[in-house]
Amino acid sequence: MIHSKILKNVGIDVNYMNNKSYQIGSEVTVKESLVQGKGVFALRDFKKDELVYVVPRGRFVKKSEVKGLSEYEKEHLDRVDVDTYELMQEPACFINHSCEPNIIEKLMPKGIEGYAFRNIKNGEEVGVDYRVRGFDDWKMNCKCGSKFCTGIVIGNFFTLSLKLQKKYLPFAPKFIQEEFEKKKKARCKTPRF
Ligand SMILES: C[S@@+](CC[C@H](N)C(=O)[O-])C[C@H]1O[C@@H](n2cnc3c(N)ncnc32)[C@H](O)[C@@H]1O
Ligand SMILES: [Zn+2]
Repeated sequence: MIHSKILKNVGIDVNYMNNKSYQIGSEVTVKESLVQGKGVFALRDFKKDELVYVVPRGRFVKKSEVKGLSEYEKEHLDRVDVDTYELMQEPACFINHSCEPNIIEKLMPKGIEGYAFRNIKNGEEVGVDYRVRGFDDWKMNCKCGSKFCTGIVIGNFFTLSLKLQKKYLPFAPKFIQEEFEKKKKARCKTPRF
């Protein structure tokens, strides 16, 4: 299995990918978070840009189907298109939001890859910025503890500063990238006086 071989190369437990366990070898683990509920923690140092985890893609659900999901499922949904969500898989579904994330995720056809967005220390909780894939108006009182914490986080990419939007844009889903381009064109057309 080519897939297993790749995963072994990055030190990830292949059993995890077969959904037998959500412990990813010696890389990350799930435990009580200081932010909220459960969280995901690094089990070794990671250098910036290093692959930290891979999780299989989850089931896709249409916006109209969300109301029929369990509370647990609703809590672990991620936006992937204008009217489509994805049920996040363990352990990535336990990653808390951070306004100063140390992980950035790449949506690949077969899996979601989490890369170190900066150097990560062994034992550090890993966090992603939920707004990278956000296109909703949900609000959350953020307890991430970062000095850049905005306090109340609105789950929408376009609430981020333009500087952060540009930084996150390559990792945002295609529909957000397209929306960014539309807004950019509109900005260019708007007279500045
Ligand atoms: C995908 S879950 C993350 C895992 C969650 N801690 C758990 O135990 O299931 C998302 C939920 O975690 C909580 N959460 C995540 N990041 C947070 C943060 N920075 N501040 C406060 N609550 C947060 C919120 O309740 C949010 O709806
Ligand atoms: Zn925050």
